[in-house]
Amino acid sequence: MAKCKTRRLGILTAGGDCPGLNAAIRSVGKAALGTYAMEVVGIPDGFAGLIENRWRLLGMPDLSGILAQGGTLLRTSRVKPDKYELADGRVTDMTGAAAESYKNMALDCLVCLGGGGTQKNAMNLMKKGGMNVITLPKTIDNDIWGTDVCFGFDTAVNIATEAIDRLHSTADSHRRIMVLELMGNKTGWLALAAGIAGGADAILIPEIPYDMEAVAESIRERDRRGKRFSIVAVAEGARPAKGTISGDDVQDADETHHVATQVGRRLENLTGIEARVTVLGHVQRGGSPTPTDRILATRLGTAAADALAAGTYGVLIAARGDTWEAVPLADVAGKRRFVPLDHDMVTSARRIGTCMGDE
Ligand code: F6P
Repeated sequence: MAKCKTRRLGILTAGGDCPGLNAAIRSVGKAALGTYAMEVVGIPDGFAGLIENRWRLLGMPDLSGILAQGGTLLRTSRVKPDKYELADGRVTDMTGAAAESYKNMALDCLVCLGGGGTQKNAMNLMKKGGMNVITLPKTIDNDIWGTDVCFGFDTAVNIATEAIDRLHSTADSHRRIMVLELMGNKTGWLALAAGIAGGADAILIPEIPYDMEAVAESIRERDRRGKRFSIVAVAEGARPAKGTISGDDVQDADETHHVATQVGRRLENLTGIEARVTVLGHVQRGGSPTPTDRILATRLGTAAADALAAGTYGVLIAARGDTWEAVPLADVAGKRRFVPLDHDMVTSARRIGTCMGDE
């Protein structure tokens, strides 16, 4: 049996769920229990469970049969230890309570599976709460600083690509603009990847503020060439460039404030071509993870167990090429990984004539 510095770990999932969380819990847990004979404490409902001192020991049977399952067996929440909302609506700092629970659970380290917010919360628990923490990068947004990729992303790209494929066949039967809004929070990774994979004619991402007239002209041009339809993939965080036509004057009557609704309305006005809008929403986060996400979650999970054994705390277990790296949380917390404007995917999309909204 390998020697290890961690005897007992806690594990929780925080923030929005995504496919691959169960695969990661299974991987950390099996390697910790099997390879290193650690004890594994499962904490439910993200940081809420930690603050409220709720936990149970996990054994091998708990980790069996979950690899292909979506969601998280530990469940999750968006609760932040330093901004905890009390029943009466007041917000208070519960870092102290979280630290008490950590002691009460007799943990040597807390493993937090989460997105950008979780990296920040884990960092606070380490600095203000004195806990040992290790994080894993999960999010369909793929926007965590310090890692090449996050698990959950590949599955979401697959779902979004299938949605674009399906829109193609219905769009082709009509003369229409199909606008599809995809998640991604403040970044465009998901819309860009799915847009390219699905062959969208225009891709609008937050990193490249769009000019609605430029998008309309690209659609008119397609129409002149006899293309009866156009597909526009819009990231939920996409916004118009300053000084260009904005969507403000075509707010959706039902006040959904979805950017796709505004884009659809405006394109219809500018081109005279009927538009239809689809907001894919949480479908992108549901269901079974792809093999790629299962493999990534498993690799990073066992890497986390290795880091726990070595006592390498205060780090994000990041994917780097074919291997992994322990990146200090101090370098990760509070940052966001945006799509670089010269990213290969952006260049490639432009080369094949995809309108990126700015020209
Ligand atoms: O961070 C993941 C994500 O799905 C984002 O893409 C999206 O903006 C957000 O979460 C939705 O959050 P919620 O599930 O809380 O509505």
